[in-house]
Amino acid sequence: MKIACTGRSRALGARIAEHLGAGLAETRISRFPDGEIYLQTGPLDETTVVVGSLLSSDSLVELLLLIDACHRSEILLVVPYLGYARQDREFKPGEPVSARAMARALSSGVSRVITVNIHKEAVLSHFTVPASQLNLAPEVGDFIAGLGLSSPLILAPDRGAAPFAAAVASRGGWECDHLEKTRLSGEEVRIEPRKGGDWTGDVVIVDDIISTGGTIATAARMLHAQGAKGVHAVCVHGLFAGNALSLLRSAGIDQIAASDTIEGPESRYSAAGAIARALIR
Ligand code: R5P
Repeated sequence: MKIACTGRSRALGARIAEHLGAGLAETRISRFPDGEIYLQTGPLDETTVVVGSLLSSDSLVELLLLIDACHRSEILLVVPYLGYARQDREFKPGEPVSARAMARALSSGVSRVITVNIHKEAVLSHFTVPASQLNLAPEVGDFIAGLGLSSPLILAPDRGAAPFAAAVASRGGWECDHLEKTRLSGEEVRIEPRKGGDWTGDVVIVDDIISTGGTIATAARMLHAQGAKGVHAVCVHGLFAGNALSLLRSAGIDQIAASDTIEGPESRYSAAGAIARALIR
């Protein structure tokens, strides 16, 4: 078995390879003068694990090219972050179900797909090959345990993230709760002030994705106004679009952490172990 990675998933791919004791297939990626992507892999085995997060149009093209380059082997596809999953239905007439379009495209030529904390589980049904997701709640719980906070409250910023927060909290035997969020636009949300309870300790807000940072920043300001001692944010997929990091810091977030499904300076824990275990199963 060899692991082949797209350009933005090299560190995670190397960690998965280390967990599996598998070799890395060197992948060289460059551009033609007109901007088209060129890619070439080194020697492969009978089975190739293709690892690539779907972060942008370029990363989609890289993934499609890499899958095609590996066509002589059986391909297990790992898409740690599946972009476009939030457009999971036709919200207005004439819109695509973008998640379905991506899932169909990525099913071609592969025998199985694994992703991580997909935004909505129903999206998995759009793949035309067996597809499953991993939940990094235990890894998030272990990461929080390592922060050494005393009895942190694990908080979901909205109802949708409440089951994730409960799973994280159960890892450390901590309390958990959720807020009520209304999305006003792509960048802005309204969060209802929390009623009752003790808000004077450390609060760790957990979510699947941080994109613009609007959700977490709004929650953090509200928590500070209600007397929280420290506010921390841990997500699985750290997109940190635009000025998200400065927005989060100015909202008084003490620590920001994400996994390496999207590699960046805030990647402070890894999805590699969970992915390697799923590949062995
Ligand atoms: C939405 O339901 C997701 O779980 C996240 O809460 C959302 O994507 C975060 O986006 P942003 O950081 O832009 O507020």
